Amino acid sequence: MENLGKHVPIPLYFQIKTRLLELIENGQFKPGDQVPSERELTERFSVSRMTARQALTELESQGYLYRIQGKGTFVATPKLEQPLAGLTSFTEDMRRRGLAPGARVLTAQEAPAGKKAAKLLGIAETATIFRLERLRLADGEPMALETSHIPVALCPGLLEADFRDQSLYRILAERCDTRLVKADQSLEAVPATAYDAEMLHVREGTPLLLMERVSRDASDKPVEFVRSLYRGDRYRFTTELIRREESL
Ligand code: GLP
Repeated sequence: MENLGKHVPIPLYFQIKTRLLELIENGQFKPGDQVPSERELTERFSVSRMTARQALTELESQGYLYRIQGKGTFVATPKLEQPLAGLTSFTEDMRRRGLAPGARVLTAQEAPAGKKAAKLLGIAETATIFRLERLRLADGEPMALETSHIPVALCPGLLEADFRDQSLYRILAERCDTRLVKADQSLEAVPATAYDAEMLHVREGTPLLLMERVSRDASDKPVEFVRSLYRGDRYRFTTELIRREESL
């Protein structure tokens, strides 16, 4: 790595971060490789320990590096690229990438819909919904925390299904002949709460991507309202943009 520019108006930590990032992006540092420690960076660039730490911490919080206590800092596997356009399930998304989808069921219960779910699903607040909270896994690694709400009247008996290794979309299709054909979805950044952080194996306050989806069947009836918290350090959402008309 070249020396830093000490007389340029670019913070030293940022210059170190950029150097490391270049080495990761052009493959000189590969996933799983150990990167120089704080102490090594301090000596290599004649900077303070704090400056070296800031470079590593930023790369870590952006998902390029991960730390193992007592062992060092390593290059993370690249983020999963997730196109935003298709109405797909987590199971399909993971299988397409050759990863094994899985889930830990945190809650599976029937309960009154409550205000928000009722409004989005077009049902009474007192109507019963099936509420399913799952930690979604890819090859055993936590990727997202997901809470689905489905009116029980649309698909009774979901409580009996085993959601540890089965797709909700598949169960809806097989048990209730319900196929989701379109959805409205929003995406926003939120900081991880202590609970989210513990479940997703990230630090409290790490940016997560909150996705809310209301999916409908062919008759336009809302079937599910889902709140998904994706790990911001493991996902990169992509979308194709098409310019429809000149408006200049
Ligand atoms: C994704 C979506 C959810 C959807 C889920 C279904 O994770 N964000 O809105 O409910 O897929 O996944 P599966 O059919 O694998 O249970």
